[in-house]
Amino acid sequence: MVEYKVKNLGLADQGSLKVEWAERHMPVLMRLREKGAAERKLSGLTIGAVLHVTKETAVLVKALVDAGADVWIAGSNPLSTQDDVAAALVKYGANVFAWRGESSEEYYWCIRRVAEAGPDVVIDDGADLHVMLHKDYVDAASKVVGGTEETTTGVSRLKALEEEGLLKYPVIAVNNAYTKYLFDNRYGTGQSTFDGVLRATNILIAGKVVVVAGYGWVGRGIALRARGLGARRVIVTEVNPIKALEAVFDGFEVMPMIEAAKVGDVFITATGNIKVIRREHLELMRDGAILANAGHFNVEVWIPDLESLAKSRRKIREYVEEYTLVDGRRLYLLADGRLVNLAAAEGHPSEVMDMSFTNQFLAIEYLFKNKHRIPVKVHNQPVELDYLVAKLKLETMGITIDELTGEQREYMKSWSYGT
Ligand code: ADE
Repeated sequence: MVEYKVKNLGLADQGSLKVEWAERHMPVLMRLREKGAAERKLSGLTIGAVLHVTKETAVLVKALVDAGADVWIAGSNPLSTQDDVAAALVKYGANVFAWRGESSEEYYWCIRRVAEAGPDVVIDDGADLHVMLHKDYVDAASKVVGGTEETTTGVSRLKALEEEGLLKYPVIAVNNAYTKYLFDNRYGTGQSTFDGVLRATNILIAGKVVVVAGYGWVGRGIALRARGLGARRVIVTEVNPIKALEAVFDGFEVMPMIEAAKVGDVFITATGNIKVIRREHLELMRDGAILANAGHFNVEVWIPDLESLAKSRRKIREYVEEYTLVDGRRLYLLADGRLVNLAAAEGHPSEVMDMSFTNQFLAIEYLFKNKHRIPVKVHNQPVELDYLVAKLKLETMGITIDELTGEQREYMKSWSYGT
């Protein structure tokens, strides 16, 4: 018998159809799932997961359940759960605590249920479960064999924990796998962020001035897709001189937010930092400016400043809140400043999550196989697993590549050849 709290179990069949669609587009993970189901290598393992409860996550959870694990899952954002998928997950045998539109208290209550299951392995997206275990469930944390972390923000939080000497179990930063961040963060977020902006607003990007805050892998993907959709100007704001220079050489305008604020039509934050768009910027924005966030937490557009500048607000369409400022200008905040791609759309497409979640699956197998032998620190994904994911993805796409000849291999190892 599984335990659960979801919106409506009656949505399970609808959710299963969505999951079936994702499975069709996640061939690498499906291959591992079949192998895992035959070998049952994760039998006896309790997994606690905090992930966006989407059709892609369901494919991962099914793979873990089929491999023998007892899975407990909560959502990693109050607005990202797909209720029909959550219901389907219960039917697949997972313990699920997630629904769309959780309050802050409900969100943490759900994560608590996962922490209290006493997981051997922890999968997290944003580190809320890791942090809760370290703060409030110290005994449970000391029994954890290892964990994984899906996203840049979560890895930063875990590195801070490690630097303070407080980390209690080894964590694999799945986010740092090449086959994760080069694809999921860049192409996944690039496309799904616009999917969210467009589903929420139905505006035309062609002819618009799009401002992208942050030129990490996520910002790069968003800037690239803004250009592809025909934005008249794509402006990047940065604090890191190397990234700023890269944005310039990639062909984007770079300027401080205080300048960009005056000219942007659509603002998208992707920095992982706090108060990136704040009072001084909001005061300069044009009437009609649209504000969206693609970073993990809803702190990049500083909503208290928006609220204090506004004389009124109203919901104008699903995921679009209109703030009328004292001087009459109207600014539009999408999805409460939460991850727009997951709140207003469905998150990254399955094809890219195929790689991210195959990395997760392999990292979990690795942690379980090597339990008690891995030093307590934040590790990168073992490189052989990263290469395996790329190799399998290419294989499923029917793409073959060259191999080094013996002579080339020798040449690469040698220091004595010159011209
Ligand atoms: N993060 C971004 N997109 C996602 C998706 N489709 N499923 C789970 N986590 C995600």
